[in-house]
Amino acid sequence: MEIIIQPTPAAATTIAARLVARLIREKPAAVLGLATGGTMEPLYRELVALKLDWSRLTTFNLDEYVGISPQHPQSYHHFMWEKLFGQVNISDQNVNLPDGLAQDVPATCEHYERKIFSAGGLDLQLLGIGTHGHIGFNEPTSSLASRTRIKTLTPQTRQDNARFFGSVEAVPHHVITMGIGTILESRHCLLLAFGKKKARAIAEAVEGPITAMNPASALQLHPKVTVFLDEEAAGELKLTDYYRWVYAQKPDWQKI
Ligand code: F6R
Repeated sequence: MEIIIQPTPAAATTIAARLVARLIREKPAAVLGLATGGTMEPLYRELVALKLDWSRLTTFNLDEYVGISPQHPQSYHHFMWEKLFGQVNISDQNVNLPDGLAQDVPATCEHYERKIFSAGGLDLQLLGIGTHGHIGFNEPTSSLASRTRIKTLTPQTRQDNARFFGSVEAVPHHVITMGIGTILESRHCLLLAFGKKKARAIAEAVEGPITAMNPASALQLHPKVTVFLDEEAAGELKLTDYYRWVYAQKPDWQKI
């Protein structure tokens, strides 16, 4: 895992955007795994501002709420079209999100997995992290080998996401999410986390044991993960001096 600590969320986001932009320029038909949430909004703003060519890219989002329509203002379909897809030249046939209104949930999940496979797998997966370590909506105790499936949100996640819905009661209980096994098969994972409330989850995920109690810790098994943090989110890590040293000493060909 490479840990990049920057003074502010904006500085870290700019470096993450450079990495995504580089992939899009080098591989115009790349397959991107995307996330939603507050952490991703500034990243999508930066990507839009870069005016990249999205015409040949294919995207797969991590997750969607069950039982709300794509038009619902808090659906992840709506989020993605508002913050990103509606502002770039992506072809709508190349956009994929789990179907939160599917009648046959297991079949739609299997179909999603097959589609990722047929597209050639994910070149890059963007990830945020929940306050208790979820990635996608793989809540604590999720199988580290899990594939796309339905999950029940924890009360903590519903509380954390109440800010988007206006009240905790309005947050759906169920979601469809890529599994941890699905995420681990992507070729490069970019995890972004900002603010004090993510510090514990980050310390456990990066320096703790691999455990289903912190699903992001499974990323320790992945050969290529880049973690972008601000000072606050890095606040509970032990080896921060080493991570800063590694970043400062990067050979030119490895620089982002
Ligand atoms: C959303 C997702 C979640 C979020 C996480 C952090 O698609 O997969 O794992 O990335 O809950 O959310 P924010 O960025 O709102 O703190």
